[in-house]
Amino acid sequence: MRDYQIAPSILAADFARLGEEVDNVIAAGADIVHFDVMDNHYVPNLTIGPMVCEALRKHGVTAPIDVHLMVSPVDDLIASFAKAGASYITFHPDASTHVDRSLQMIRDAGCKAGLVLNPAMGLEPLKYVMDKLDMILLMSVNPGFGGQKFIPSTIDKVREVRALIDASGYDIRLEVDGGISASNIAEIAAAGADTFVAGSAIFNQPDYKKVIDEMREQLAS
Ligand code: DX5
Ligand code: ZN
Repeated sequence: MRDYQIAPSILAADFARLGEEVDNVIAAGADIVHFDVMDNHYVPNLTIGPMVCEALRKHGVTAPIDVHLMVSPVDDLIASFAKAGASYITFHPDASTHVDRSLQMIRDAGCKAGLVLNPAMGLEPLKYVMDKLDMILLMSVNPGFGGQKFIPSTIDKVREVRALIDASGYDIRLEVDGGISASNIAEIAAAGADTFVAGSAIFNQPDYKKVIDEMREQLAS
């Protein structure tokens, strides 16, 4: 069995009580905090920036923070997120003019680097940068909002990217983001994903542990 990790997206958390929400979801068994950054330019929504990441670290969050940049341009924010305590920084290749340079900047800043592919985007952007990737994030919804329906064609794409990672020999996590719940997580895992972002499926339920336990049971089945 793979080393599966569950990454709640705090986009669906109660922002007025964010520190407590993150503490609760980690105590409930989550592995990584998925941190969605939107700029009302690359995507039609606006969320949080490095100050909030830093505030979570000051609050005492020690779990890895997985910063998903849905911003354009990308490079200006890399140093500030690294300083704010980001563990992973992922971005969309179509949001950066020089993808290889942005990836290198992330690693040089001491973070793990990843590329994010939107649902309609092929695998071409990955081809020449596999050696610079710690994570590949496949969007299973169009980015910008939580609570959307999982796009089924993602399953085939997960299979293709899993084969690409295995053939490369590099240690790259394969994360999927959007519309994931206990009812489809097993199918996504079977296709080859190892890291699962879930926002509304976790935070819209009163008992986070119950949902995360259900997800783990599905992953073990
Ligand atoms: C969408 C974000 C996702 C989103 C996932 O642009 O990148 O991380 O919050 O939310 P759910 O799990 O509700 O689809
Ligand atoms: Zn995300």
